[in-house]
Amino acid sequence: MEPNEKQTSQDVQSQWDTKAAFWDQLMGTDGNRFHRELVSPVVERLLSLRPGERVLDVACGTGILARRMAALGADVTAVDYSQGMLERAQAHEQLRGNPVVYRQVDVTDEAALAALGEAAFSAVTCSMALMDIPGLEGLFRGVVRVLKPGGRFVFATAHPAFNSNNPVFGAEMADIDGQLVTTHFLKVAAYLDLPPALAMGAREEPNPHTYFHRPLSALLTPAFAAGLVLDALEEPGFEPDQEQAARPLSWYSLPQIPPVLAGRMQLTGGRQTRGN
Ligand SMILES: C[S@@+](CC[C@H](N)C(=O)[O-])C[C@H]1O[C@@H](n2cnc3c(N)ncnc32)[C@H](O)[C@@H]1O
Repeated sequence: MEPNEKQTSQDVQSQWDTKAAFWDQLMGTDGNRFHRELVSPVVERLLSLRPGERVLDVACGTGILARRMAALGADVTAVDYSQGMLERAQAHEQLRGNPVVYRQVDVTDEAALAALGEAAFSAVTCSMALMDIPGLEGLFRGVVRVLKPGGRFVFATAHPAFNSNNPVFGAEMADIDGQLVTTHFLKVAAYLDLPPALAMGAREEPNPHTYFHRPLSALLTPAFAAGLVLDALEEPGFEPDQEQAARPLSWYSLPQIPPVLAGRMQLTGGRQTRGN
């Protein structure tokens, strides 16, 4: 890991430590609407977990996905860099399945990931965190090292084309054939080359955190370079509903625009040369 990357990773760690209590209260046991309606269903579908499988959840936060996978019968290890988030995760009661094993790991550190067990996991998951992680090269190389042959990596992340770099929510009203029609839209001004930026993860949170916008090519290329191939992709969006009226300038008013991108990757035959 480069020294700059290490420093950035430590900055991100402290941002998440500071907001851990707020985040946990916001997300609760099963997550917010993003998790319940978009992320969890798609991740579970892509993962097709079999009871007894060993799974590593990277950047687990407060453990929403880790607990769910354990309840489905998986043997789950969950890692995050933020001690605050890990403490919150551990404080949740787990009603079913084997207890999740939590560890503090910087997931940009290939060697630290590999130390969890080379070729030891049937699957690795990463839910709504790739956009929060400063460097993906070490992460993907580490994922390849911990996966068993035939293993899979399943992710859900903020959709890089839409839900990235502070898109602007808008609405306009027009008289169309004598009817007033409101149209909600999203304005995306830039996509290709944007520096990391502070932004809010939720309304009224104590502090913003750093987002690492990556166009699709930059998001996926380090995974391909590490030896993973993409074999499934989904772009879930919200169903139109009542909350549209209450929160007009939000994702809930944009059922045609997916805020989440989810995918599954598999190990190719040949593993790449290992780094550090
Ligand atoms: C938005 S939260 C997502 C948490 C969880 N996966 C979920 O779906 O609720 C992002 C998480 O990424 C973690 N994170 C960011 N950079 C990390 C790193 N380098 N190593 C480990 N965790 C990291 C943060 O600490 C935070 O818990």
